Amino acid sequence: MKEDPRAEALELIAAIRMRLMNAVEAGIDAIRIEAPKTATAPRGASPASPPSPAPERPPQGSGLFDAAAKAAPALSTGEKAAALEAIAAEVRACTKCRLHKGRTNAVPGEGNPDARILFIGEGPGENEDLQGRPFVGRAGELLTKIVEGGMGLKREAVFIANVVKCRPPENRVPLPDEAAACLPYLHRQIAAVNPELIVTLGRPATGAILETDEPMGKLRGKVFHREGRTVVPTYHPAYLLRNPPAKREVWEDIQVAMREIGLPIPDRRRG
Ligand code: URA
Ligand code: SF4
Repeated sequence: MKEDPRAEALELIAAIRMRLMNAVEAGIDAIRIEAPKTATAPRGASPASPPSPAPERPPQGSGLFDAAAKAAPALSTGEKAAALEAIAAEVRACTKCRLHKGRTNAVPGEGNPDARILFIGEGPGENEDLQGRPFVGRAGELLTKIVEGGMGLKREAVFIANVVKCRPPENRVPLPDEAAACLPYLHRQIAAVNPELIVTLGRPATGAILETDEPMGKLRGKVFHREGRTVVPTYHPAYLLRNPPAKREVWEDIQVAMREIGLPIPDRRRG
């Protein structure tokens, strides 16, 4: 499919501008750009350091956005970590919605600032509220199993966040105004980490990212693209605790997601 090159350039510029605005939103106010030595030099390679051992992201089918992602300057791990810590500090002091009143600890999220995969849950439960960390209760144990036992990754390799950062009373679903008040933090976290893949866990997270009212049964395991990222919705681990047979579908969805970003699928867990 041939595009008008001018339209393509304009779209590319718009995509780069969006990336830069995301970086500004994430609290990044300076970006160092190093010109590659040759057209084929790995991104970020400099004479002082050998080529990064981190594998280049595999090519994806997202065309212009993928080109924009390559053209836009990458944040260093340190810059990402600093942006995430700044967001977390704001979250811990936040009183933008009523949920701050009931919290023991806010739960900003945690994980690898360079994660390729970001999981999004609904909001902290009791254990999360007590510890200030996401997914540390029973549902969290199951998420950790999915990541480590299923995907063959360390939990520390991914990033885990929630739609709302403070525990709703009795673990009720976040109200629309609470989600709306809190979502800018999530979007800034996404911009900072810049993951290739977002896995949304359950309806509230899926609805927040895809802005849809469709039920999970219709959305799960499908591949969406948002701002150059792959988004794959699946069931929430808390739902799996109530309905263990749905684990099979979650494993299918996770495999779809991993394949989509070129991650090898471990051969265990048949059935
Ligand atoms: N459920 C969620 O949605 N998020 C958590 O952090 C824990 C349980
Ligand atoms: Fe602020 Fe989000 Fe907590 Fe509401 S849930 S007080 S918006 S951090």
